[in-house]
Amino acid sequence: MLHFAILKSLIRVALADNSGPARHQVERLIEALRADGETKEAAALVRMLNQGARSHELAPSRISRSASAAGGSQERLTPSVPLPVDKETSAPLATVIFPGDIVPQLPLFPEALKENIEALVLEWENSERIAAAGMRPSLSCLVYGAPGTGKTTLAFWFAARLGIPVVLARLDGLISSYLGTTARNLGALFAFANRYECVLVLDEFDAIAKVRDDPNEVGEIKRVVNALLQNMDAREGRGITIGLTNHESLLDTAIWRRFEVQLAVPLPGFEQRVEIARRSLDADAESTDADAKLLAWVCEGLSGAELQTMALKFRKRRLLLDDIEVSPVTTVAQLSRSTSVHIDPERADRLFLDEVTLTKYFATSEIKFTHGELASLFGRSTKTIGRRISEEGSRHDE
Ligand SMILES: Nc1ncnc2c1ncn2[C@@H]1O[C@H](COP(=O)(O)OP(=O)(O)OP(=O)(O)O)[C@@H](O)[C@H]1O
Ligand SMILES: [Mg+2]
Repeated sequence: MLHFAILKSLIRVALADNSGPARHQVERLIEALRADGETKEAAALVRMLNQGARSHELAPSRISRSASAAGGSQERLTPSVPLPVDKETSAPLATVIFPGDIVPQLPLFPEALKENIEALVLEWENSERIAAAGMRPSLSCLVYGAPGTGKTTLAFWFAARLGIPVVLARLDGLISSYLGTTARNLGALFAFANRYECVLVLDEFDAIAKVRDDPNEVGEIKRVVNALLQNMDAREGRGITIGLTNHESLLDTAIWRRFEVQLAVPLPGFEQRVEIARRSLDADAESTDADAKLLAWVCEGLSGAELQTMALKFRKRRLLLDDIEVSPVTTVAQLSRSTSVHIDPERADRLFLDEVTLTKYFATSEIKFTHGELASLFGRSTKTIGRRISEEGSRHDE
């Protein structure tokens, strides 16, 4: 890329104070570079972002300043800080992920969801101004959606964006393993999270519903639910709590209401799937946009994580096939029968139609592959593709 060295110097200056907006603009540039296939440059900028976050780990962030403005006093979380543990078993109650270890990439989400996320980031980036006006940023956020749709990635991105660590607790481990001491563990977990500037992430948040439904533990259950809700409320002036769940329907309305922000994460749409596939195939010089579109088409109804798995299998298969003449369509057809990715059977079957019918279908289906793309997907010349499509068309016309 022309003048990339100068651009990097500019970015270094912009990132010097680790400001959220500057980081955000660099993230946008990374996405744009990736979209243009400038992967080496994009990777260089990701490294700069990570270095920036690491070197600022010891610097006070906006959140700590706003916390002290709100009357709280928080210490900085470093790798040498001991983790909170269960008193009896010494099992850790949480893990800590530092911003330097997070690749700050927001999953591909629909515009409306992105706007809601940006609004929340903006509140926390401007928490001082909000506090000065007698208000406070949203304390809690519930992120719900199917497995593998990017919920954890979103929570981590959020923390990286603010330049602070994640304290990650799996609520199911905390609750079901030590039923008798759960409330005490929750107390220890929140006390830890409140002491440091961090984003507290409660994974498997639906575990709380399990406790409620257990008829043998009525007294205990009430204590646990109350302890959790009270602890969440008491985070005021400390930081945000993000709950993650795949089973939102298990949560009752009292718990739903407690979350000030609720974000529904959907399965990715076609355009998003193309981009996810493109990114997954990025490192592969041989792969094309047509491959990404084909994978996006066959992975209709699947999560981003499943699509990534499929793309990875595709890359491996292509690598190992080497110079044997197998077209990308044939590779995807074979993979679609693999049991580890749940491809829609109708789409999988379609891939086994005869080549002419399939060519015609792809040229006219909602995706509208171009002749050039079809040529690359079937490993044929564009002339052959053009002939197939018109032959098939005339057959239809008869
Ligand atoms: N919409 C998306 N855009 C880009 N990547 C995605 C998307 N959805 C999922 N992924 C990728 O899939 C992988 C799994 O995502 P993640 O762990 O965040 O999902 P999750 O919703 O937390 O899943 P689970 O409910 O199983 O915990 C990550 O590598 C993530 O980047
Ligand atoms: Mg997750």
